[in-house]
Amino acid sequence: MLPLYIIGFMGAGKTTIGQKLSQDLHIPVFDTDHLVEQAEGKKISQIFAEKGEPYFRDKESEILLSTKNINGIITTGGGIILRKENRDFIQTTGSSVFLKCRIEKIMERIEYDTSRPLFVNKTLDEVQALYESRLCFYENTAKFIIDTTHLSIDETSYEIIKRI
Ligand code: S3P
Repeated sequence: MLPLYIIGFMGAGKTTIGQKLSQDLHIPVFDTDHLVEQAEGKKISQIFAEKGEPYFRDKESEILLSTKNINGIITTGGGIILRKENRDFIQTTGSSVFLKCRIEKIMERIEYDTSRPLFVNKTLDEVQALYESRLCFYENTAKFIIDTTHLSIDETSYEIIKRI
């Protein structure tokens, strides 16, 4: 069922898997972060720095609502599940998968990343606390969960296609 929303923490591989699914299923993929950047004409880090996180969350929520009738895949920013209205929307629109991944693996992937404002200058403990505070939202929002910790991109795509 489409749209298929891909949710999960930063660095879980949402964008990569969204692109792989798009190729495998021959359907378009859209990314909420990218759509916010396009609408604002600025990078996410710039939006956070200049206008603050609440402004970004408003834009992110507006963009999410605009994806309702898209016949494709929507990859989302890791904080999309912070607002109840967004969780409700994802639960009642199309299908959704939570890409679950061990925090140690996520840290390996995004260790040197500077494009994610909520990650920059954070210790492992702080990132882990953020991850744990969000875990139940991801788990309770998605229609199904794929643990990608030990899966390749191809295997993850295959597992998702089997479930939709
Ligand atoms: C965020 C995740 C980012 C981006 C922003 C905030 C978050 O997207 O939306 O930096 O709150 O987890 P990715 O999950 O694609 O990194």
